Amino acid sequence: MRIPLVAGNWKMNKTVAEARDLVFKMAIQLREIRGVEKVLCPPFPALVAVSSLLVGTDIGLGAQNMHWEAKGAFTGEVAPNMVKEFCNYVIIGHSERRTYFGETDESVNKKVRAAQASDLTPIVCVGETLEQYESNQTGEVVARQMKLGLADTDPAQAARLVVAYEPVWAIGTGRASTADNAEGVVRDLIRPALTELFGADAAQSIRVLYCVSVTAANAAEYFARPEIDGALVGGASLKVDDFIEIAKAARASLMSKSMN
Ligand code: 13P
Repeated sequence: MRIPLVAGNWKMNKTVAEARDLVFKMAIQLREIRGVEKVLCPPFPALVAVSSLLVGTDIGLGAQNMHWEAKGAFTGEVAPNMVKEFCNYVIIGHSERRTYFGETDESVNKKVRAAQASDLTPIVCVGETLEQYESNQTGEVVARQMKLGLADTDPAQAARLVVAYEPVWAIGTGRASTADNAEGVVRDLIRPALTELFGADAAQSIRVLYCVSVTAANAAEYFARPEIDGALVGGASLKVDDFIEIAKAARASLMSKSMN
């Protein structure tokens, strides 16, 4: 059985003081939710402070991006070993990075391989844009992102990989992808791509998260689906009660999935 994972992507929100405050309010309740992996992904400047607040808890810490090179003249970038000093996870290829910062399947691939070489768990985002969705290109796009983004990655680390399905067309449009649609993409596109890359056993052990407009109100619906192993949460991860409820919904789904 795959352990559910709920990760909060804070995006470009929270100063160090605000981040501390949010973690103070969230950590005690969050650590009490057992059997679910919980991860916070604050902006880079808050990583040090948040990591010290999480010492002794089972709450993981992730970066929202990193460069693939180990060091050197890359102004404004952060190297894998710098991330590894504080984090065990790193989000790679988020649609906002692809859209606003020119990330490609090739750069995603370099980052995934660098993350693995630094013993970081990559949370790799894939998903189609509105234009691609409307022209029925979902299958082609997701298959390509999976194949190129994960090419030549370390098979020994395959089971640790996390994939997040992000239907970009649903962001901020009020047209959230239904659980049926999300599960269909994971079952028919993402899991088969993982099987092709890493074999059936490894593919079955890789967590696939749903990402986009997950809230306290709809999380349970996504998590009830056998193919959906948790969520990468944006806006709702900045609200204490909402994020706690989402983690609790993951916990509840674990119990019902283990009974089936
Ligand atoms: P929202 O949950 O705010 O829709 O953001 C989704 C996302 O991009 C998470 O990384």
